[in-house]
Amino acid sequence: MNTRSYVDQHQERFIKELIELLKIPSISADPAYKEDVLRTSEAVEKALKDAGCDQVEICETPGYPIVYGEKIVDPTLPTVLVYGHYDVQPPDPVELWDSPPFEPVIKSTEIHPDGAIFARGACDDKGQMYMHVKALEYMTANNQLPCNIKFMIEGEEEVGSESLEWFLTKNREKLANDVILISDTGMIAKETPSITTGLRGLSYVEVEVTGPNRDLHSGLYGGAVANPINILCDMIAQLHDENNHITIPGFYDKVDELSQEERAEMAKAPFSQEEYNKKLDIAQEHGEKGYTTNERNSIRPTLDVNGIWGGYTGEGAKTVIASKAYAKISMRLVPDQDWHEITKLFKEHFEQLAPPSVKVLVKPHHGGTAYVTPIDSLGYQAASKAYEDTFGKTPIPQRSGGSIPIVALFEKELQSKSILMGFGLDSDAIHSPNEHFGVWNYLKGIETIPHFYKHFTDLKK
Ligand code: BES
Ligand code: MN
Ligand code: MN
Repeated sequence: MNTRSYVDQHQERFIKELIELLKIPSISADPAYKEDVLRTSEAVEKALKDAGCDQVEICETPGYPIVYGEKIVDPTLPTVLVYGHYDVQPPDPVELWDSPPFEPVIKSTEIHPDGAIFARGACDDKGQMYMHVKALEYMTANNQLPCNIKFMIEGEEEVGSESLEWFLTKNREKLANDVILISDTGMIAKETPSITTGLRGLSYVEVEVTGPNRDLHSGLYGGAVANPINILCDMIAQLHDENNHITIPGFYDKVDELSQEERAEMAKAPFSQEEYNKKLDIAQEHGEKGYTTNERNSIRPTLDVNGIWGGYTGEGAKTVIASKAYAKISMRLVPDQDWHEITKLFKEHFEQLAPPSVKVLVKPHHGGTAYVTPIDSLGYQAASKAYEDTFGKTPIPQRSGGSIPIVALFEKELQSKSILMGFGLDSDAIHSPNEHFGVWNYLKGIETIPHFYKHFTDLKK
């Protein structure tokens, strides 16, 4: 039976199974959900067994476990390693969801007339990870698995994959592969398949500005002491200049500048600025001078405040000068910026921006290295042919602005390239309220993935 017919025949069950997985709130960031995260790893273990993996185990790590599974049909054949994550982002602000984040519902939308599954993790990444489990089911049930397959599904991606380096260095042999296959990104549009050829790196920091040693009456002290919130805002404002360039000395030194030809190639991807603005309800786009929207969100580094707090934020008014103000700041990085170095440059610069009236503390969080992959590799070619089979179109290579730090780590530790076959859409609201994943996209993913295995094995011969 071909993949199309198999998916048609089993689609209802595929959707039901994903819905069950989405009901478990596997929020890795919040320790209150520890049991649920662990329960999810067990659900993934069972799913891999049911789909036909021979060896399945829950591997303990210093953090949340990694679910490993494999089916080795013949050690002389190529091996594909599938990576995905079973943890999800916190759902808040919960009040902005139209339906509860862990009670999945299917609703149709303008972009998804066949329906989309609304739930936290629907697209990022339970839905996309589960496509691979169901693709394996098809291949084993129909005697269509042409090579060896390994699965590595982690539970800490959304908090920086802290245990992964540890796991990789301990399990090099076990994870050995010819190519890594990941669905944790997106595609341009349903009628425009694309393969992600780049990811940005990341440096995530938290800053704390301390003024007076206690909260003060803003009438008695206001104007006479530094207000840490005012100062923090002022310091943050200085991080960009009038052209929206980042002002940290040395920040751009190692940035890989694309050639005019490469930029012209990128500009061929279908995009409407007007549509973009309309969908986000903004009067105008905003960003670094001299670059287009698609360049700003993929090949250029950025700095954004992700959260800022301090002082009184409850009901009504309270006249107070807070003792402390805080912000969380992320910097998205591009090849060949080194995130450790960027974190250091940020720290030095931010500390020296502070006036003597306050103390400032910069706390580095996690980070990751950017990634790019060529389009002439066997893995890319196999993926391209797989999309041609099921979409009838050659996919467009596209660099994404998001980060999956493990991908650069895979290259460093396992010397393997990752092929990023994403089936989500930018409008699927990952990390936001009302995250969803189109039923069509989900099923199309399951249909397309087995074609990758066939082409990859053929090309390897
Ligand atoms: N799946 C996303 C990354 C992504 C989404 C890449 C869409 C490209 C397109 C991943 O789960 C994620 O959210 N990564 C984090 C970084 C991580 C270190 C917390 C991110 O990009 O913010
Ligand atoms: Mn993800
Ligand atoms: Mn994510």
